[in-house]
Amino acid sequence: MSARLFAALELPADVRAGLVAFGREAAARDRALRPTREDALHLTLAFLGHRALDEIDPAREAVRAVAGSPAPVLTLADPLWLAPRRPHVLTVGLQEAGGVLAALRATVVERLADALPWQPEARPFRAHVTVARVRREWRPRLEDLPEAPKATFTAGAVVLFRSHLGGRGPARYEPLERVALAS
Ligand code: 2AM
Repeated sequence: MSARLFAALELPADVRAGLVAFGREAAARDRALRPTREDALHLTLAFLGHRALDEIDPAREAVRAVAGSPAPVLTLADPLWLAPRRPHVLTVGLQEAGGVLAALRATVVERLADALPWQPEARPFRAHVTVARVRREWRPRLEDLPEAPKATFTAGAVVLFRSHLGGRGPARYEPLERVALAS
């Protein structure tokens, strides 16, 4: 048995509402897209993959260690297809001033790497929220996207999630540990 784990920043409800509307409208215009459910919208900080069950507690402890760190102030940016050359998700990028997000992400990754037999990905971090997924075997049209939502907000909590892959349906994300940041 193993658990698929990741750490993510929680998004405020009004920001999620704007993002889910964007994902649904994009999917209404392009049948290749399947919109993300509102409760599944988050900003992934660290993807741990499948971990042994006895690594869950150390992962929770590592996430607890960032409690009280400064909360990043984020601004929704342009839509972003990932990976750009062979898109499998439609996302909305995030920008920030001041480097708080980068510092928080580095701390989360460092704590998790110290606590678990896990190597962080070497590729650069690109902050984004996935709003729709490209259906298997389909190619998205890449154009005629609806206008992306605009918002600037404080991301106030880091959550360790367990992802339950749903077979043919969407994955369900179970929060295992939630820690508040300082705004
Ligand atoms: P995404 O937002 O880019 O889709 C749960 O699956 C979360 O972990 C998703 O939000 C997803 O990021 C991220 N994730 C899934 N597989 C990943 C991988 N192989 N590398 C990095 N992040 C991944």
